[in-house]
Formats: sequence, structure tokens, C-alpha cells
Amino acid sequence: MNLILLGAPGAGKGTQAEIICDALGIPAISTGNILRDAVKHQTPLGLEAKQYMDSGDLVPDSIVINILKERIQKDDCKNGFILDGFPRTVPQAEALDQMGVVIDRVIEILVEDDVILTRLSGRRICEDCGASYHLEYNPPKQAGVCDRCGGKLIQRADDVPETIRERLHVYHEQTEPLKNYYYDSGKLIVVEGQEKVEDTSALVRKAVEA
Ligand code: AP5
Repeated sequence: MNLILLGAPGAGKGTQAEIICDALGIPAISTGNILRDAVKHQTPLGLEAKQYMDSGDLVPDSIVINILKERIQKDDCKNGFILDGFPRTVPQAEALDQMGVVIDRVIEILVEDDVILTRLSGRRICEDCGASYHLEYNPPKQAGVCDRCGGKLIQRADDVPETIRERLHVYHEQTEPLKNYYYDSGKLIVVEGQEKVEDTSALVRKAVEA
């Protein structure tokens, strides 16, 4: 099964992708994580992508399309995959079609902008294993330290309020048109993001099985 998780930054795509990938036994592919890894290791791709990511803009289509194309050719994608954060523009969706990828379902997690602002500005991630916390809603046992691996918790450069607003603006302008793109093919299912992660997961599971 090939799934796309659609939704604004901070809607909970990454959280849900991790949960479904365990349940379905297929990999979750986050272009954001691939790019952040490149930034961390200061590769030529990372050095180019960083300027866009830190300001909340999208990395150019040509770069991201190539990353995705390479990733889905790997062996672990033979039985399908979950795309988290790709496509983000209509040209990216068209590129996916041109690669011959058949998408079974597109699940949009719908969350209001003001809720997203609170979620993302309080988010902290582990710089070693990537585990995600929230200062108020999901705090680590010890402040600043990852429960899972003991790594240091940091704030993403793009999780400051001004950049979150820019990411939301970019989302509404460039990514939302994808809803029509997939609605027209009858593949879109919209799920309202709930206050509790497990409540959203139940709705996402239902959408996957629909
Ligand atoms: P990316 O990493 O994809 O970031 P994003 O879409 O902005 O998404 P986030 O990871 O911030 O949020 P999420 O929806 O996964 O939410 P999460 O589950 O973490 O991309 C980063 C950048 O890379 C982009 O800005 C762009 O520059 C570039 N990029 C990536 N892909 C690209 C592409 N295809 N084209 C061009 N550029 C690209 O949850 C957020 C928080 O909410 C967490 O703290 C979590 O604990 C909490 N939470 C989640 N669910 C709930 C809930 N139900 N209740 C309460 N809290 C919740």
C-alpha cells in the first residue's frame, strides 16, 4: 500500500507516520528528516537546503523530487511506503505520477493554525534519535534530556513563532492545492486532528482500512 499523509506543518504527520509504519510494516519516508540529516552532516545538499528550511520556505522541487525518487527505489519500499511531507506542491505530485507510483490513499490531518502554533513552538526533539516532545503536553521525564536515548533535546530552527507562521503561509499557498488534486481522483480522506495522539491514530487507522 502506498499512502500519503497530508497536512500543515505540525498537524501530526510525523507522529502518525511512525505509528502506521509499525502497524503496516512498511517504511515511513519523511523528506524533512532526509533533508535535516543532510544539514546535520553538512553535505552539499544539506548546505543548499538549510537556507530554505531555516526561513520556512520549501526546498526547490527538482532537489526534493530526486531525493524521493532515489529513496523509493530502495528494497524496503517493495511492499509500499508512507510519504510524510511529500508531495508538497502540484509539480511534486505530478512527478510522483510520472514515476509510475500508484497512490492508494491520501489522508489529510486537519488542524487549525493557532493550535499548530502552540504545538510547534513547544516542540523539542532529540538531536540523537529524533524523538519528539512537547514542553507542556508531552514533557520528558528530565528537562532537556531524551527519555528514549538520553540525548540532548533541542528546538528546531524552524520551530520559532515567526518561522512557523511563514511555514503555514507556504502550506496554504503551495500545498493546499494538492487537496483538489487528490480529491478529484477520489483518493482523499480528511481526518480532523484530535487533542490526543491516540484519538487521531484511531481515525487514521479507519481511513487506512476504508
Ligand atoms: P518537515 O520535516 O516535513 O516539517 P513539517 O511538515 O513542517 O512537519 P513537522 O515535522 O514540523 O510536523 P508534523 O506534521 O510531522 O507534526 P509532528 O508529528 O512532528 O519539513 C521541514 C522543512 O523541510 C520544510 O519546511 C521544507 O523547507 C523542507 N521540505 C521537506 N519536505 C519538502 C518537500 N517535499 N518539498 C520542499 N521542501 C520540503 O507533530 C508536531 C507536534 O505536535 C509534536 O510536538 C507532537 O508531539 C505534537 N502532536 C502531534 N499530534 C498531536 C495530537 N494529536 N495532540 C497533541 N499534540 C500532538
